[in-house]
Amino acid sequence: MALQMKHLLGLEDASREDISAILDSAVSFKEVLSRPIPKVPTLRHVTVVNLFFENSTRTRMSFELAEKRLSADVLNFSASASSVQKGETLIDTLKNIEAMKVDMVVIRHPMPGAPLLLTQHCSSVVLNAGDGPHEHPTQALLDMMTLREVFGTFEGLRVTLVGDIAHSRVALSNIYGLLTMGAKVAVCGPPTLIPRHLENLGVTVYHDLDRAIAHSDVLNVLRIQLERQKAGLFPSIREYRETYGVTPARLGKGSKDMVIMHPGPMNRGVEIDPAVADGPQSVILQQVTNGVAVRMAALYLLSGERDAME
Ligand code: CP
Repeated sequence: MALQMKHLLGLEDASREDISAILDSAVSFKEVLSRPIPKVPTLRHVTVVNLFFENSTRTRMSFELAEKRLSADVLNFSASASSVQKGETLIDTLKNIEAMKVDMVVIRHPMPGAPLLLTQHCSSVVLNAGDGPHEHPTQALLDMMTLREVFGTFEGLRVTLVGDIAHSRVALSNIYGLLTMGAKVAVCGPPTLIPRHLENLGVTVYHDLDRAIAHSDVLNVLRIQLERQKAGLFPSIREYRETYGVTPARLGKGSKDMVIMHPGPMNRGVEIDPAVADGPQSVILQQVTNGVAVRMAALYLLSGERDAME
């Protein structure tokens, strides 16, 4: 089946049908990944380039693994080892790579809108692997796949994103995707880290973590970007941990069935206590596993190729 979207730039405009199609397809690809030979020839005629202008562990490796599991030809580009260092522009970089006959481009870039810019200057299919504080759609999709595995449905599910909402592409993509699928979305953090007017999107805002926990089925704990403290957006790491750190004591005030997520990388002992990150309520590594299946699904559905499971 084809998606309505031509590129995966974000979830703001993604339809319920497209999100469901990617999540359904990811379930099939997860089965492929459990086979003795976890590989299908689906993208054997397709060349994919991974353009990373920012550091990454999970997203870069799981995109690359997804491409290899689909039998695509894979090129990896790292800005720090490229002619970008000699002043070559993003558009020139891509045009030169496209001249080598590339079909799909995965891009992580610090500038919001960089993936959209590529679609205006090239003919490849573009997948956003995180653009500044804007969107990180495959992270939200893998989060949603994990939630659907645990709860079976999004309808009425109460998901709270905790921490630095203002600078988080993970938060924005989760908000768009979860609202589209019928979940109830809340955010919790200090006022300096929560954008104004977020309620206009239909999001509940908490500044008190205990209240948020009492009204949530899921906490998705976001990395506190330590440079924000230098910018004066919260007084100290210690105070942040005391007020918003997710600890066993805090969780004890909520349901034992509450699910804990984190997109990584974690600051253990700051936004999340190690006992919570590694505890029975955590699905953090399940999220990482699902990242490969979700990225296989997105690549497959956007490629226009057929016969996914052969
Ligand atoms: N969740 C996430 O985007 O992690 P990386 O920065 O390691 O890719």
